Amino acid sequence: MAITSTLNHIDRQTRNRVAQEQQEQNVACELPINQIIQGNCIQVLKNLPAKSVDLIFADPPYNLQLRERIHRPDMTLVGSVADKWDQFDSLDEYDRFTLEWLSACHRVLKDTGGIWVIGSYHNIYRVGKILMDLGFWILNDVVWVKSNPMPNFRGVRLTNAHESLIWAQKRHGSAYTFNYQVMKSFNNGVQLRSVWEIPICGGKERIKVDGAKAHSTQKPEALLYRVILTNSKPGDIVLDPFFGTGTTGAVAKRLHRNWIGIEQDEQYIEIARKRIVDLTVPLTSDDLFDLTPKPPPFKVPFGRLLELGLIKPGDKIFLDKTGNEATVLPDGTIQSGDHHGSIHAVGKSILRTPCNGWIHWEYEDAETKKRISINKLREEARRLATSSGLEVVEEHE
Ligand SMILES: C[S@@+](CC[C@H](N)C(=O)[O-])C[C@H]1O[C@@H](n2cnc3c(N)ncnc32)[C@H](O)[C@@H]1O
Repeated sequence: MAITSTLNHIDRQTRNRVAQEQQEQNVACELPINQIIQGNCIQVLKNLPAKSVDLIFADPPYNLQLRERIHRPDMTLVGSVADKWDQFDSLDEYDRFTLEWLSACHRVLKDTGGIWVIGSYHNIYRVGKILMDLGFWILNDVVWVKSNPMPNFRGVRLTNAHESLIWAQKRHGSAYTFNYQVMKSFNNGVQLRSVWEIPICGGKERIKVDGAKAHSTQKPEALLYRVILTNSKPGDIVLDPFFGTGTTGAVAKRLHRNWIGIEQDEQYIEIARKRIVDLTVPLTSDDLFDLTPKPPPFKVPFGRLLELGLIKPGDKIFLDKTGNEATVLPDGTIQSGDHHGSIHAVGKSILRTPCNGWIHWEYEDAETKKRISINKLREEARRLATSSGLEVVEEHE
């Protein structure tokens, strides 16, 4: 990883330390699945096994650099982000911090893994540069348009009505999960775009303690729903190094994904733990959540059975329960009295109704003399084609 090319203005000492630690860390330990770990994520991540996590969603401190309290025109105080955890002495310090936690994330991600980092104009450009310097490959940047943004109370700038999410894969060219069809279905059959309009977290979803917001930057579950649905599969491990109120864990649980949360603040951890424990998820199987498109079954022409020797020219086949029989011809057609054509066409003209020949014709098993649906032979042909890698030609039924 190109640690050494990272950020010229970050002092050499830090760069060397991060690079050295990266080499040392291959800690073998159990993954704390569906748990919150308390601590500084940089340290905690170092104790997790390398290449163990499928997806990371990170909502780090933005370093908003708010210097003074903001009041509305009626002089009420605006609930802005003035938390200690968001404050850094300088941009250099913020960059060092970003380099360290992103490096630690890089180590724990599987080679096929993806990372999403959310931020605002205050930090997202710095985060993007460091991500790229570390070797992550950016796949998209998503604009989260807030349908109900906070106004610019002083009227000195445009209303800041969006945040940005960077979606990157660990390594350029590796396979990664992108549930293309799922996201298209989610979006009424139209490709999902990179601009998402979602309200900021409010109403019942907003966690309150004694009537006040429990956390200044709780993210909407709808945002996490899209991230997790886009870039993971049921059973995957989704890690959030800045867990806050546990939005990522709650949505991961709803979508049958595993999660790991890291958070330094004990009170937030308690809130997140209760939120996730209280969340009841219907007892449906993981299969319901596995929306990976299944390839359609091979269509097998009847003639393929002859090629494979599963049935021979001259063999008799029988139209179930009608007493009609037909002779198999070398070209894959069948003859029954005056009726000649495909298994479907001959069945149709005898029964005088549309006929799927695979379902209605039977052959006689040489050993048991029992009549068995020719569909069994089709299944055998599919099995042989799949195991030999043969291409199976489409047949129109
Ligand atoms: C922007 S908030 C995340 C909010 C979260 N996405 C939610 O929906 O509730 C960032 C969180 O990271 C935590 N934090 C900040 N620095 C940290 C660090 N070095 N290690 C672990 N947690 C940290 C803060 O306590 C805060 O809760």
